[in-house]
Amino acid sequence: MSNFDSTSGHAGQVRFFNPGPVWVRPQVLQALTGPMLSHRSQAFMDLYGRILEKLPKVFRTAPGRAHTLASSATGVWEAALVSCVEGPVLSLGNGAFSEKWGEMSQRLGLETDVLKAEWGKPISPDDVKAKLAAKKYAAVTVVHSETSTGVLNDLPAIAKVVRENSDALVFADCVTSIAGTKVETDAWGLDVALTGSQKAFALPPGLALFAMSERTLAAAKKKKLRGLYLDLVDIDAFAQKKQTPTTPCLSLLYALDVQLDHILAEGVENRWARHEEMRKTVADWCGANGFTVFAQKGAESPTVTSMMPPAGVNAEEINKALKAAKWTTGSGYGKLKATNVRIGHMGDVDVLSVKNYLKAHEEVVASLRAKAPAAV
Ligand SMILES: Cc1ncc(COP(=O)(O)O)c(C=O)c1O
Repeated sequence: MSNFDSTSGHAGQVRFFNPGPVWVRPQVLQALTGPMLSHRSQAFMDLYGRILEKLPKVFRTAPGRAHTLASSATGVWEAALVSCVEGPVLSLGNGAFSEKWGEMSQRLGLETDVLKAEWGKPISPDDVKAKLAAKKYAAVTVVHSETSTGVLNDLPAIAKVVRENSDALVFADCVTSIAGTKVETDAWGLDVALTGSQKAFALPPGLALFAMSERTLAAAKKKKLRGLYLDLVDIDAFAQKKQTPTTPCLSLLYALDVQLDHILAEGVENRWARHEEMRKTVADWCGANGFTVFAQKGAESPTVTSMMPPAGVNAEEINKALKAAKWTTGSGYGKLKATNVRIGHMGDVDVLSVKNYLKAHEEVVASLRAKAPAAV
């Protein structure tokens, strides 16, 4: 573990464990106050040029392949489908976000087959292989880290199966994985890898970040009707001039420029290691305190943990009591709202802050138990 202080002086003090938006360092918030510029000016091109040089290093893709879009992460789900896809889509779903991407594909009028795994379990690459043997797909959508359940899918294995058994494009939602755990866009053969600024990049919300492959761009160039705002061909063409097709969210780009320096100074692999240490800290605490990690063993996301309390302790009561004590955590997501507690250990948060949070969590559970001894 490196000595790098990801919190820039706030080690042990973070009380915000929402699974996104996450805690943002004061230095990044300060960067939001940069002066307004025309996005056709040389000063903007200098700023955007710096970003386009650094961003591929985090996405682990070739220079020129990483981009930004003024939207939340969901905008890139839509950009990938609208810009490139003309045939059937295979949507892999094992949680709220992956299922929603499948729903988007249907709503866009694309023929969409859904391959589901139970919430809490990862998608089986063998099941994907079987689907690909039965039908030709234009694209496969997959969520790497399912924020709703805390499951990390085996993205490299899934991408490999798709690449070896079909010509389908691999569209990977890396919203709560990239910059928090290993993602190798080029080495794994991901055609689109995307995230939102408010997750492991630890920026305020409002900016999508993504990488696209040569294959993606070639597929988009072949498609006649790609819409306008989300057209990946336009985004790529403008990026070559160090510009964006429409007005960018300039303030967030200032913040991104600063934060990329911070991420690269920490080291991308060190950042992955810090997140893994936070995951393990939470998992060990769960084991010692009678909580059950919802994700199947071996498929736990390093950035978010969804956990179930021991019998007799109510998840919603825990969330309420933590909130009253000024700790921010996530409740269980969707159908897990009443039964689970979710912690985002993501971005620039440090292990000591996670430990302090767990101490507070423990105290809350003890006081709930004291209030309702008969139920325990
Ligand atoms: C895995 C995943 N995908 C997609 C999204 C949607 O992101 P956004 O709200 O930035 O569009 C989220 C948001 O939490 C997410 O966790």
